[in-house]
Amino acid sequence: MVTINTASFSSIATLSVIQMRNVSASYDSKSFVLKNVSMNVKRGSNYAIVGASGSGKSTLLKLMNGMMIPSDGVVLYNYQKPDLKNKQYRKSISKIGYIPQTLGLVKNSSVLDNVMIGGLPRLNSINSFFKNFPKEELQHAHDVLKLVGLDEKSNRKVHMLSGGEKRRVAIARALMQKPDILLADEIVSELDAVTAREIMDVIRDAQKKFNLTAIMIHHDMNLALEYANRVAVIKEGDKVLEIGVEGDKIIDFQTGDMSQKEILEMYNES
Ligand SMILES: Nc1ncnc2c1ncn2[C@@H]1O[C@H](COP(=O)(O)OP(=O)(O)OP(=O)(O)O)[C@@H](O)[C@H]1O
Ligand SMILES: [Mg+2]
Repeated sequence: MVTINTASFSSIATLSVIQMRNVSASYDSKSFVLKNVSMNVKRGSNYAIVGASGSGKSTLLKLMNGMMIPSDGVVLYNYQKPDLKNKQYRKSISKIGYIPQTLGLVKNSSVLDNVMIGGLPRLNSINSFFKNFPKEELQHAHDVLKLVGLDEKSNRKVHMLSGGEKRRVAIARALMQKPDILLADEIVSELDAVTAREIMDVIRDAQKKFNLTAIMIHHDMNLALEYANRVAVIKEGDKVLEIGVEGDKIIDFQTGDMSQKEILEMYNES
């Protein structure tokens, strides 16, 4: 019999980066915000989550980044069950870059200082306390700022930036973490269509450059379908659809047998 030691899997070897198996979540242990959700996010893909306000999208992301523990079911990273004693597991979760719905930027600090925060976990505690960054860390920050198109504004205070630029800073801070997975909660929702696409293009470039998996919550289904390999539609805590575009058709990946017309009808009901 062949036994597979999942603990020895390197992050490069695994096809799926995150798997949710029958996950339920509750904030008050009485009512469930998510019910029996399963999903499988493939390495390098762009996975989108859409759904009405209050349907449980941000909760899903909090379960993925370990901020919240499921009431039932399990979230696997590189096929590893949560176990803080397991070095491989700790490494997997340290490679998650999370951008919250409110961005979480320090508004009175400079762009560069905000980005450097993403590198703090790599410093020893004294350097981290005094924010003594080695040269190569500063270089990496400038590299990611170039990638997001903001290097020329690295000394500007964040409160002096436009909405699109603030999102670029949040992406740069997450990239500074050297993540495998980028989780972004409605990062383009409040932007105009042109700026939203510019930001999505930045994320697409970062995905290519760093072999990143992106899991993104969206408000706009068209934008989600344009950029994502798969789109999970959440309705009242249930994943009711998992769809994507193939050629010029919308395909049902969840059951494999819904027509485009049925998908659109079901989406409009959700
Ligand atoms: N910290 C919390 N404590 C208690 N209930 C919460 C908490 N956070 C969210 N909820 C509830 O869980 C449900 C799902 O919330 P969640 O934030 O996941 O929705 P969402 O789909 O992200 O909504 P939106 O599109 O408005 O951001 C809502 O009914 C919300 O009120
Ligand atoms: Mg939300």
